Amino acid sequence: MPKISVIGAGNVGATLAQRLIEKDFADVVMLDVVEGIPQGKALDISQSANVLGFSHTITGSNDYAETAGSEIVVITAGIARKPGMTREELLAINQKIMTDVVSNCLKYSPEATLVVVSNPVDTMTYLAWKLSGLPRKRVVGLSGVLDGGRLATFVARELGVKPSAVTPCVMGEHGGSMVVMPRFTLVNGKPLSELVSAEKADELAKRAVNGGAEIVAFLKTGSAFYAPSASVATMVEAIFTGSGKVMNCAAVLDGEYGLKNIVLGVPVKLGKGGIQEIITLPLDKMENASLLASAEVVKGQIAALSLK
Ligand code: NAI
Ligand code: 2OP
Repeated sequence: MPKISVIGAGNVGATLAQRLIEKDFADVVMLDVVEGIPQGKALDISQSANVLGFSHTITGSNDYAETAGSEIVVITAGIARKPGMTREELLAINQKIMTDVVSNCLKYSPEATLVVVSNPVDTMTYLAWKLSGLPRKRVVGLSGVLDGGRLATFVARELGVKPSAVTPCVMGEHGGSMVVMPRFTLVNGKPLSELVSAEKADELAKRAVNGGAEIVAFLKTGSAFYAPSASVATMVEAIFTGSGKVMNCAAVLDGEYGLKNIVLGVPVKLGKGGIQEIITLPLDKMENASLLASAEVVKGQIAALSLK
């Protein structure tokens, strides 16, 4: 049976594991350092199989041996952002966790594609790529699918259309410097920039950029996980089924958009083995400048990693 492993059985990890097992295309293993949590959550989810009708198995474990032979490993292990905490503050803690997780995952699943969720995600994806020594196509991070999903929600509400009528485009860092692209965000096929004023587009973009923090301010003890898990499940499905669907993700760049040796959110074609192609959009001067400014932020974080 094909297997997908989810590392970290917290809010994002457990909700993701549930979404994946309900899709019923692979067995799911959920792993966490905390004893009992992955086992208990997996047992609970498994007991919905009869009601929901899925037949693959879900298990929880503290032992990486259980993840052996995974086709895809999603890394959600880490500390979630608390109110007032920036994603950068998470860096040092999550670097340690990522180092432990990547080596263990690859020991048991050397053929896996890694999907990184842990924040700050662009930098953690870069770190996972460096630590793993994998080809860049096999390491991808969650960013634009979630940020674009948030943008689509606010655009749909503003224009009175269904969220599914919006094809969002958000590039750059998954953080304050992310770049919402109104010219490449389509509503029923038409660019958002032609449907609303520049001021309105800016207002919608600001809410999307602040989308994660807005939820943290409500929850107080954690960050968003329903939309994040839905977003990463969509990425996993595209990789697992080899759909070739284009979505904006954190990808290792090697010359695309004039950037090298960095991870940044760009449109990619996802399929078997990870990223099949990086799409280069014809950005105008302003859009390009915003993307480069965002890259500077990620470069700063990468420089702050203690990489040998
Ligand atoms: P959470 O705190 O609910 O879960 C994290 C889990 O990781 C905990 O169960 C913890 O025990 C586990 N963990 C910690 N160290 C571990 C290790 N060494 N090995 C295995 N498991 C370990 O946090 P939540 O809400 O699930 O978020 C997880 C991460 O994802 C955070 O870094 C968060 O900021 C990030 N995130 C990123 C998003 C994105 O768009 N890239 C969206 C949402 C969350
Ligand atoms: C979010 O955007 C915390 O990165 C996470 O909700």
